[in-house]
Amino acid sequence: MNIRRATLSNLTEMQKMYAETIQSICKSDYTPEQIEAWISGVKNKERWIEVIEKQFVLLAIIENQITGFGTLKDGNYIDFFYIHKDFQRQGIADKILNELEIEAKKHHSKIITSDISITAKPFFEKKGFTAKAEQKNIRLGVELINFKMEKEL
Ligand SMILES: CC(C)(COP(=O)(O)OP(=O)(O)OC[C@H]1O[C@@H](n2cnc3c(N)ncnc32)[C@H](O)[C@@H]1OP(=O)(O)O)[C@@H](O)C(=O)NCCC(=O)NCCS
Repeated sequence: MNIRRATLSNLTEMQKMYAETIQSICKSDYTPEQIEAWISGVKNKERWIEVIEKQFVLLAIIENQITGFGTLKDGNYIDFFYIHKDFQRQGIADKILNELEIEAKKHHSKIITSDISITAKPFFEKKGFTAKAEQKNIRLGVELINFKMEKEL
């Protein structure tokens, strides 16, 4: 497996993987309506372009395929963090998160935070994050629960 920075040419594949991961891996924690509202985020292309241009975006690549990606905003906030549905539990999230934490330390960040899904919460707890608050977000009129989590570096 290779870890490398993303470019705009990766955008389409990243968005496809993101939608498939949510549809398949998060369906036991969220209703079909919630999943649809969550995935609707792919339509906001400007937001995704900004993520790639302004954030530290890492891809995990196996045989030319994107198998996961994670992004660090402002050196201290994990904005996107998704692993391909067919490559779960192979240590890919572990590797990407380690690299994001190294990058955060380069920014002299003392704390790393994120808004984490119900599905990903056990992974982030395993990695030393603690949940500070449960949050109810409204997207397209649908309520989506996630957790404000943080870890001291
Ligand atoms: C959560 C997620 C990122 C984990 O990715 P992954 O590559 O499968 O995780 P890893 O293989 O690196 O896991 C490392 C360790 O974390 C723990 N872990 C990972 N997923 C877990 C889960 N669902 N429940 C409990 N522990 C988990 C395990 O201890 C695991 O080690 P093990 O497999 O030897 O037991 C992935 O399941 C995912 O993409 N989820 C859906 C997307 C999502 O909700 N993203 C967050 C948006 S905020």
